[in-house]
Amino acid sequence: MPDDFDQELKDKAALPDRTPRLEIKNLVRRYEGLAVVDDVSLRIMPGQVTCLLGPSGCGKSTTLRMIAGVEMQDSGEIWVDGKLVCDTHFRVPPERREIGLMFQDFALFPHLTVAGNVAFGLRNGTREEKRARVEELLDRVDLLRFIDGYPHQLSGGEQQRVALARALAPRPRIMLMDEPFSGLDNRLRDGIRDQTLSLLKEEDSAVLLVTHEPDEAMRMADEIALMRGGKIVQQGAPYNVYTRPVDQAAVAFFSDANVLHAQVNGALAQTPFGQFLAPGIPDGTYVDIVFRPQHVRLDFDRAGKGPLPTPSDGVPARGVVERARFMGHESLVEFRMDHDGSTLKTTVPNVFLPKPGKAMWLTVRRDRCFVFPSH
Ligand SMILES: Nc1ncnc2c1ncn2[C@@H]1O[C@H](COP(=O)(O)OP(=O)(O)OP(=O)(O)O)[C@@H](O)[C@H]1O
Ligand SMILES: [Mg+2]
Repeated sequence: MPDDFDQELKDKAALPDRTPRLEIKNLVRRYEGLAVVDDVSLRIMPGQVTCLLGPSGCGKSTTLRMIAGVEMQDSGEIWVDGKLVCDTHFRVPPERREIGLMFQDFALFPHLTVAGNVAFGLRNGTREEKRARVEELLDRVDLLRFIDGYPHQLSGGEQQRVALARALAPRPRIMLMDEPFSGLDNRLRDGIRDQTLSLLKEEDSAVLLVTHEPDEAMRMADEIALMRGGKIVQQGAPYNVYTRPVDQAAVAFFSDANVLHAQVNGALAQTPFGQFLAPGIPDGTYVDIVFRPQHVRLDFDRAGKGPLPTPSDGVPARGVVERARFMGHESLVEFRMDHDGSTLKTTVPNVFLPKPGKAMWLTVRRDRCFVFPSH
């Protein structure tokens, strides 16, 4: 596995003939004096998918609306294929930006047929060429049979797929998508998602996809931009963002997270699970040691004893099962720890459902722990 996907992205971006398809520089948007988008910069290459991932209200949709041109930034610039599209003095109108939009609150034209809706954005080409493009797209989203129907005859998910076909039809250079798959059921979603992605990649579009679902971002993105409170707090290939999170919230965004609290002494943090390295953190600092449930190892209790400590796993600590639930591809087992009564979450592949009250020993994989100063 490549050690550093970010380096790979940077290498690609550094090639001289590769101008970003979309570049935003230091975008700021304030409402009543409060910056809801606060100095956001992004570069997206042709054929690249970047996911803007973050909690509700962090400024994702506002960022997209400024790029689309339906909302003005207070400062910052937007560039497309090396040309300035918008700054505080100059502004290309939305309809001339060749940007495709697929927003949360998409709306089809009720008085137009499905074909009419999809053909709406097609300016060039003969009648036959337009019809062929409409048929091709409706086929890709598996709705060809509804071509002469009207929106009100379709389910919510079907309408959403029509909206997707409509957005894709003019082969936009940039596609902005705001939770475009949220209304689809799981089974349908995976298929549509992959189809949409391959269509956009074929066209070499740059895609900025907003989501608050980490699974969706991991599945779709070449690059993830983690957004919080109007700022991008971390940016990189999914592998790097997942394995080298910048803080506790970044860990918790992708999975459940366990936290141990400790104080640093001699660049080490002492815990019931043994010592953790805290390089560069001054003595006396309180730290959070954060790890994901899948990085806890479980061992059975043998007459009150657990496994021996090891350098990679540290010291085992004992807990009793509080509850165990089967989640499909794994089981989630929660423990109440003997040493302080705290709860720790663990996951085990497949089925493992020990009875509540059962004592077990837990060890934490050192190389998968993150040590952050407490706030
Ligand atoms: N027109 C407006 N006037 C005042 N405040 C606004 C306006 N539009 C958005 N906001 C505020 O800006 C912040 C960011 O909103 P935005 O819609 O960008 O969030 P989001 O990240 O897309 O959230 P969600 O995931 O819920 O869609 C929110 O706190 C919101 O209340
Ligand atoms: Mg939004």
